[in-house]
Amino acid sequence: MQQSPLPPSPTVMVVDDLAALQQAAAERVVSWCQEAIAIWGMCSIALAGGTTPAGLYRLLATEPYRSQIAWEHVYCLWGDERYVAPDDPASNGRMVRSLLLDHVPIPTDHIIAVPTPANTASATDAAGRYATAVGKVLEHCGGMLPIALQGMGEDGHTASLFPHNTALDTPADVWAVAVTDAPKPPSQRITLTIPALNRARHILFMVAGADKAPALQTVLSNANTPYLDPYAARELPAQLLRPPRGDVTWVVDRAAYASG
Ligand code: 6PG
Repeated sequence: MQQSPLPPSPTVMVVDDLAALQQAAAERVVSWCQEAIAIWGMCSIALAGGTTPAGLYRLLATEPYRSQIAWEHVYCLWGDERYVAPDDPASNGRMVRSLLLDHVPIPTDHIIAVPTPANTASATDAAGRYATAVGKVLEHCGGMLPIALQGMGEDGHTASLFPHNTALDTPADVWAVAVTDAPKPPSQRITLTIPALNRARHILFMVAGADKAPALQTVLSNANTPYLDPYAARELPAQLLRPPRGDVTWVVDRAAYASG
């Protein structure tokens, strides 16, 4: 498995609690959106699923953050999505629309949603269609993904890239794949790949809670290791995000950093 050259050391911000984490994340997203629009005239952002970023999405939909982003120049996609109906409570798309996209003036054709079972034959079919759409979005910003928002599971997964899963082994030009054996339910998902996420200019990990402390400690301690043993690297997939032309920021709460 090809590994990217070591990017600059990650920035690690330890904050008191989840609310502080979401505020710090909102401030970075606003700044990086403005930077991308200044450079490329637009900003594409890959949104994380799960529960940690929910408060961030609420913040971005309200002042003072909402009016600091030129939403007409923003494209949003998902780092991963569960292969479920759009109105399924497990849908990351449903969560982001209800908390953010329904409340900001982002053009509807700038929302690059992951195809759902309603209009695809399988998760693999959905991943193929999504990969094509992601490829087009990457063209907007010179092949870069200005912002990738990431969560991390206690097993070190990020997006739907789980330890030792075959989704970790994709060619350099495959932007999204299906996962049909996710250990975190639901089992069928579509995820951006390591190569896609390593096109990021800024990767922002948001990690909260003591249950994630062991994985976080290992990932951060390996962050400055130039070359990771392939087996060890695949043990905690979050550490495979090493954007060669970007940087990685971790905003974590004290509980997650406790043993750091
Ligand atoms: C998903 C997420 C997933 C999530 C982590 C952390 O669709 O399940 O993308 O990768 O970010 O599992 O989830 P929490 O934020 O809920 O802890």
